[in-house]
Amino acid sequence: MKKIRGKVYIVGAGPGDPELISVKGLKSLKKADCLLYDFLSSVELLRYAKSSCEKVCVGKKDGLHLKEQNEINKLLYKKALKYKNVVRLKGGDPFIFSRGYEEARFLRQKGVSFEVIPGITSAIAGPESHGIPLTIKNRISSVAILTGRKKDINAEIDAPDCQTLVYLMGVRNIANIVRALVKSGRKKTTPCAFIEKATQKDSRIVRATIGTIEEKAKRFSVKPPAVLIVGEVVKDGYRS
Ligand SMILES: C[S@@+](CC[C@H](N)C(=O)[O-])C[C@H]1O[C@@H](n2cnc3c(N)ncnc32)[C@H](O)[C@@H]1O
Repeated sequence: MKKIRGKVYIVGAGPGDPELISVKGLKSLKKADCLLYDFLSSVELLRYAKSSCEKVCVGKKDGLHLKEQNEINKLLYKKALKYKNVVRLKGGDPFIFSRGYEEARFLRQKGVSFEVIPGITSAIAGPESHGIPLTIKNRISSVAILTGRKKDINAEIDAPDCQTLVYLMGVRNIANIVRALVKSGRKKTTPCAFIEKATQKDSRIVRATIGTIEEKAKRFSVKPPAVLIVGEVVKDGYRS
């Protein structure tokens, strides 16, 4: 049995603004001997790592995978055998549509010690950074975070009975999302918005309704990464 030297920190980098990583996450980054990071993590965060730190981009971005998940798992294990402190840096929160959970389970099976350091998810930071709350006291009391794209591209998208819905990975599949929203009984006049590159300098918001979002997203060439928020809160935003 190989002796496992290292500890792995599965860290949420936050949505883009490098200042939105947690103090704990940043501390782990500064002491990392090896860093495995995704595309979505703010590149500026990399400069906090020691110059001797081995940095490996294992990123996933908009369908492009540099490495398959099982390769990433194996690499994490290999680096934990070699180094004392290994950081796995992931965009947003590591457990929100991010496979951090799978990585944690794999490490556990392999007997590698690890710690999960949560991050600010784009699902919350996206709307909030444009003044849109996900809940409002006594009025908007339910919110769901959903995937806008399933493995089987033809699979039906979920549209549960919540007042606010936030879809990640939905730009390319907006037609199917709209179909699901209408099928769930929502009115075509329900407000919604795409928030692109949340918390980054060139972030923007495209406001619409369920009935117009597909056309507007095309007209304004909305591109990933973007979150789609659906519900009355879009109208309530303090910048609306
Ligand atoms: C694979 S998921 C990872 C989500 C991430 N773990 C999180 O908590 O934000 C990637 C999707 O997150 C959303 N996303 C990530 N960063 C974003 C940003 N800065 N602005 C808007 N959406 C973002 C987009 O919907 C993107 O397609």
